[in-house]
Amino acid sequence: MIAAPAPDSHARLMDGIYRHQRHIYDATRKFYLLGRDRLIKRLDVPEGGSVLELGCGTGRNLMVAARAYPSARFYGLDISDEMLTTARLKIRREHSDDVIAVAQGDATAFDPLALFGRASFERVYLSYALSMIPQWEKAIAMALSVVAPGGSLHMVDFGRQEDLPGWFRAGLRGWLDRFHVTPRDSLRDAAESECERLNASCEFETLFRGYAIHAVIRLPASAEPRPRKPRRPSKQPRQAPAAYMPASSD
Ligand SMILES: C[S@@+](CC[C@H](N)C(=O)[O-])C[C@H]1O[C@@H](n2cnc3c(N)ncnc32)[C@H](O)[C@@H]1O
Repeated sequence: MIAAPAPDSHARLMDGIYRHQRHIYDATRKFYLLGRDRLIKRLDVPEGGSVLELGCGTGRNLMVAARAYPSARFYGLDISDEMLTTARLKIRREHSDDVIAVAQGDATAFDPLALFGRASFERVYLSYALSMIPQWEKAIAMALSVVAPGGSLHMVDFGRQEDLPGWFRAGLRGWLDRFHVTPRDSLRDAAESECERLNASCEFETLFRGYAIHAVIRLPASAEPRPRKPRRPSKQPRQAPAAYMPASSD
């Protein structure tokens, strides 16, 4: 089993990757971080609601979302100070300081009250961040712990590319690996298991022939724990599509 890197070393790794990349990030990523605007459209933020993005990077999504939901308040967390430098510059340039606040922190362990002055948010989302967070399952659990009752967690990230040609899938994965990006092939299973744990509902969409996956977990409105559903006796392993080759670490 590979040990997760210490938060400090992961922060240094992310800063190293984005120190120069942050200057061209928004212009280049629009071609391959697909599904981000779809996620924002589906957030359906209630009037005056609060929204948290974990792994907010340059703040691109926060700014698009702030334009789409003008009555909401937005918060962003990222482990990379380099990315946050760009985010803060952009937020100031667009005079959005009063609606968007960003802070440095680790998505797997943070204190929202200390960072943002609130304990929960109506909407929380992760956009192409889980594939860069070694302890990504812990990040999902942490994200769910700060969703307000009746709120939702939204995730978009690289999918299994199951309906894309094998050469494309292999090439994409090799290239992503160079940037420490690992598609989380068991994202759907992890989300389903969280839904079961929390008596929440799950929705999944496969985008662009499996290039990306969009998942939504909606929490029940009542904070009261509800009786757990009886567990199924044994879970059959998911049948892998013919074109799909399991990745080594997921
Ligand atoms: C590919 S970028 C995505 C940025 C943005 N969400 C988007 O959709 O454009 C991934 C971001 O996740 C951040 N990140 C990686 N690990 C993290 C962690 N453990 N906690 C918080 N942010 C993290 C990186 O610093 C980077 O800004």
